[in-house]
Amino acid sequence: MKPRIQAIAFDAYGTLFDVHSVIALCNRKFPGQGAELSKLWRSKQLEYTWLRSLMGKYEDFWMVTESALIFACRSLGLACPAETRRELMESYLHLETFPEVKSALGKLSKHKLAILSNGSPRMLAAAVDNSGLKRVFADVISVDEVKIYKSSPRVYALASKHAAVPDNAIAFVSSNFWDIAGAKSFGLWTCWVNRGKLPEDELGIRPDVTVDTLDGLIAVLA
Ligand code: LAC
Repeated sequence: MKPRIQAIAFDAYGTLFDVHSVIALCNRKFPGQGAELSKLWRSKQLEYTWLRSLMGKYEDFWMVTESALIFACRSLGLACPAETRRELMESYLHLETFPEVKSALGKLSKHKLAILSNGSPRMLAAAVDNSGLKRVFADVISVDEVKIYKSSPRVYALASKHAAVPDNAIAFVSSNFWDIAGAKSFGLWTCWVNRGKLPEDELGIRPDVTVDTLDGLIAVLA
């Protein structure tokens, strides 16, 4: 049963913004290695957020992302001088949105829309600005406020606090299954955007709904 949703909180990276849009630049810097570098960069970035949260050693997402890039390059044997690293990091501020994102957000705008992301405030502001989405969101919420990463319950509690509505009036939307698991475990209504037709993780937690793209959410909430 779908509760009465008043506000929608979206994950940013991988859900609205395609983190693998850095592949083109990675390929220009390291021909033929772009996809592999991007994949390892992203997986290490996430791993470092979980490790830092468990250790109680928060560093913001920009620093975590840069550390993950350094490791990924070293691991693949790619020499990455400071200037190349700077360019690759800058690409995180100009990520492409997935194709349906702008039109779908327009159609969902009768709800209060927010981003709830691991991203640092500066990274999120740049990505939102550079993709022309600034006016779409009532709020851009960063975990930096609580200095711990998803999937800490303290992060998901920020959504209702910012929207000033009860937890059960929030829809949380993410393409990252582990993020959906965190939000659902906290108690939010969740929608998994499974663009990649991936299997669900074995965590004993299931999303309330699964859709192929954000367009599917429009029908669910209609
Ligand atoms: C975020 C991570 C999950 O945007 O990509 O919070």
